[in-house]
Amino acid sequence: MKNPRIIVALDFNSAGEALSLADRLHPELCRLKVGKELFTAAGPQLVEKLIAKGFDVFLDLKFHDIPNTVASACKVAHDLGVWMVNVHALGGRKMLQAARSAIPENSTRLIAVTLLTSMDQDDLEDIGLQGEPAQIVGRLARLASDCALDGVVCSALEATHLRQLLGKDLCLVTPGIRLSGGEAADQKRITTPQQAIQNGSDYLVIGRPITQATDPLLVCQQINSEIACFQQTS
Ligand code: C5P
Repeated sequence: MKNPRIIVALDFNSAGEALSLADRLHPELCRLKVGKELFTAAGPQLVEKLIAKGFDVFLDLKFHDIPNTVASACKVAHDLGVWMVNVHALGGRKMLQAARSAIPENSTRLIAVTLLTSMDQDDLEDIGLQGEPAQIVGRLARLASDCALDGVVCSALEATHLRQLLGKDLCLVTPGIRLSGGEAADQKRITTPQQAIQNGSDYLVIGRPITQATDPLLVCQQINSEIACFQQTS
C-alpha cells in the first residue's frame, strides 16, 4: 500500500512501549503519531528511531506561540524528518504564515488544529469566542487554507462540510474513529473508518482500537480492507 490512511496514535509514556508496538505494525499499513505525552517522555531520539524503522511520523505537538517561536519549532520538526506536524489555527494569520514559511511546500505536511473537540459552546464563550462551534471551525479552516497550510485536523463529522467549503485539495485528518461494534471509551463524536473516508477524510487517527488490540497488525489490515473500496486517489 503506497499511501496508508491509518495514523496510529502512540499514546504511551515511554519509548519502550512505543517501540514494541511499532515492531508489531508495518509502515506499509499505517503511519504513527507521536503526541505531547510520548514526546515529553522520549523526545526526538524516539522519533528518529521510528523513522529509521520506515514509518512516516506525525508529530502532534500543536504548536501555539509567537510567530518566530512557532516557525523555529516547525523548522526543527522538518529537519527531524517528520512526515506531518501541526499548529493551532487560533495562533492567528501571522503565526500560520510564519509556520508555512519555515517548512518548504511538498515536504513535511503542515496542518492546523481548528477547535479542540473537547470544547463546547460554554467553553468558547468563556474565552470570548461567539458563535456556533461549526462556524468557528469553518472560519479557522479557511484561515489555515488561506495561509497555504496543507490541511486541518477535524472530526470526521465535520469533514463533509469542510470539503464543501474548502475543496478537495485540503487534507483532512480525523480522530474519533471507532470500529463498528467497538467501544467509544471517552470519545463522544465517533465515526467508523468507512464513514470517515466516505465523508472525505484523508487520514484516520486511531489510538486504542489498535494500540489495545490483541493483534494490532490484524486490526490495521481489517481497517485497510474495509476502506479500500472508498479511497480516492491523492
Ligand atoms: O484512542 P483514541 O482513538 O481515542 O485516540 C485518538 C487520538 O487522537 C489521541 O491521540 C487524541 O489525543 C487525538 N485527538 C483526538 N481528538 C482531537 C484531536 C486529537 O482524539 N480533536
